[in-house]
Amino acid sequence: MRFGSTEPILLVDEQGDRWICKLQPPPMSDHAVEWIVAALAREMGVAVAPCAVAELHPALIRALAVGAPSERAYAERAEKLGPTVFASRWLQGAREFTLARATDTPALLRVLTLDLLVANPDRQAVHPNLVRVGRDIVAIDHAQALPEAHGQDDEPIEVDLHVSHGVGAPGRAPSEAAIRRAVASLPVEWLSRPRREATVEGLLLRAERLGSGVAA
Ligand SMILES: Nc1ncnc2c1ncn2[C@@H]1O[C@H](COP(=O)(O)OP(=O)(O)O)[C@@H](O)[C@H]1O
Ligand SMILES: [Mg+2]
Repeated sequence: MRFGSTEPILLVDEQGDRWICKLQPPPMSDHAVEWIVAALAREMGVAVAPCAVAELHPALIRALAVGAPSERAYAERAEKLGPTVFASRWLQGAREFTLARATDTPALLRVLTLDLLVANPDRQAVHPNLVRVGRDIVAIDHAQALPEAHGQDDEPIEVDLHVSHGVGAPGRAPSEAAIRRAVASLPVEWLSRPRREATVEGLLLRAERLGSGVAA
């Protein structure tokens, strides 16, 4: 498929349902991050596409093995780390989010709180990574969030503070138990144990800051 900066593949499962999957080369931290953020989003009432751990069909992996260099890298990864990938459900009728309406404010505040919790740098005004599906605003593409999962735990985390433009105060972060559950629900081959632990720590720290009213 040709859209966005990545070129995802469209997977069709045995029921005929369609799923989007981004074929990133190793490691699997992008997949892990998408999974964790989706779990936290559901906790926080942020609409996200349903997601799944998809297992690539052996025939697809064989085809990738003789494809473009990026596809070959992916086939090699599947050899080493197994054929599972993060897949998000294709949202029929999704439209780009171009203009916020007054009635969107509660949903956008929840999105903002999520972004602060997961330190998501990839939701800019010109590039919001939001789509409209019917009445819902659905948040997509969280692969760049959770710096600790990407091994960036030493870098300062900067998030655009749209909150300072009068949108309102951020909402509540999930509980410690919910944060631990979200990280624990990950397929273990997607993220090393030290990075999982660092991810939990980063999330707990930012949740505490949200709780005390300090936005970033
Ligand atoms: N689950 C989905 N259902 C429908 N359209 C989607 C879905 N995910 C992404 N898109 C469309 O693809 C575009 C790019 O997707 P995104 O995940 O942001 O990829 P990129 O890594 O290229 O930024 C989105 O702006 C949206 O229009
Ligand atoms: Mg995007």
